[in-house]
Amino acid sequence: MSRTRLIIAALAAALATTAQAAGDPAAGRQKNFQCMGCHGIPGWKTAFPEVYQVPKLGGQHAAYIVSALKQYKAGDRDHATMRSIAAGLSEQDMEDIAAYYAQSAGGATVAGK
Ligand code: HEC
Repeated sequence: MSRTRLIIAALAAALATTAQAAGDPAAGRQKNFQCMGCHGIPGWKTAFPEVYQVPKLGGQHAAYIVSALKQYKAGDRDHATMRSIAAGLSEQDMEDIAAYYAQSAGGATVAGK
């Protein structure tokens, strides 16, 4: 009984910590309007300024998205568009947006969220 409660408490603490570290998906949902124009297109291609493939973000790991955005911002990844977009994002924006994409399966609404 007390062992079970201990485990539940530990799980709840772990979940709370994860949620904090991973950012706020609800806030990210508000912030991703700047990204949907490219990353939300079915087929993941954009026609402006030229036709190129846009990576799918939905379902991607939050940590991966944040690290990619930091690399664009720092100039470690070279892509003019993404560098200028990442330059305008705070670390909290990145965490929130990443949390949102990590739990969305590429545009589909997650049931119950
Ligand atoms: C104008 C179109 C456009 C917009 C707007 C845009 N992106 Fe991108 N994004 C791209 C393209 C194209 C790439 C691939 C760049 C490359 O090859 O490095 C990319 C790459 C990425 C990657 C790396 C993915 C990977 O698997 O390597 C992340 C993360 C990302 N974008 C996040 C975002 C976020 C978050 C936003 C909104 C704040 C955003 N993008 C807005 C076009 C866009």
